[in-house]
Amino acid sequence: MDLVPESVRTVMAELQAIDAVDRIDGTPQSARLRAISAEVGQFLLTLALSIRATNIVEVGTSGGYSTLWLAVAASRLGGRVTTFEIDAAKAALARDTFRRADVETIVDLREADGGAGLLDFGAPVDMVFLDIEKHDYVRLLDIAVGVLRPSGLFVADNLISHADELVDFRARALSDPRLTGLVVPIGTGELVAVRLP
Ligand SMILES: C[S@@+](CC[C@H](N)C(=O)[O-])C[C@H]1O[C@@H](n2cnc3c(N)ncnc32)[C@H](O)[C@@H]1O
Repeated sequence: MDLVPESVRTVMAELQAIDAVDRIDGTPQSARLRAISAEVGQFLLTLALSIRATNIVEVGTSGGYSTLWLAVAASRLGGRVTTFEIDAAKAALARDTFRRADVETIVDLREADGGAGLLDFGAPVDMVFLDIEKHDYVRLLDIAVGVLRPSGLFVADNLISHADELVDFRARALSDPRLTGLVVPIGTGELVAVRLP
């Protein structure tokens, strides 16, 4: 069943169209949306619902495409998504996305480094989705796992598309004594790990 409301679906389609053009028209990487695919979005939505994730944190908002998928899950469960974006222009774009998709009451957008933000976060988190620059994944791993509740999920993007850059991160995540998980070969490769109860 398709859970995505029409208002959200329309904004998702607009972001996907921008992303598709960005990838071929020479837009510099720093300005591109670099969004997940719809398949990965549906995967995130399914994971979030399966663990009843009412307190979801995303690090790396960009234009807010992946956040919309997480927001659909959160709204179904009466929960919230907190999403961190370090770049002011991207945060402005995401703010506009959330207004147009009418998810402003579900999404808390914070224009900040996700590492610092998570360290201050406080409440146990049900699910963390990490999608930032690959050289920064190792730093975020420890911080993210530290805030997860038992049986909470840690998901990270690009494990296959950026396998070389993420060798160290992958090894650390899959051998972390607080986690068990695997890399799922959908989209650009999603690391999914559960915090051990
Ligand atoms: C690949 S894009 C995210 C795409 C988004 N998750 C989606 O699927 O629509 C990565 C984003 O992470 C942001 N970013 C990079 N380092 C960050 C950090 N330390 N904290 C928060 N955001 C960060 C970048 O500015 C960029 O917008």
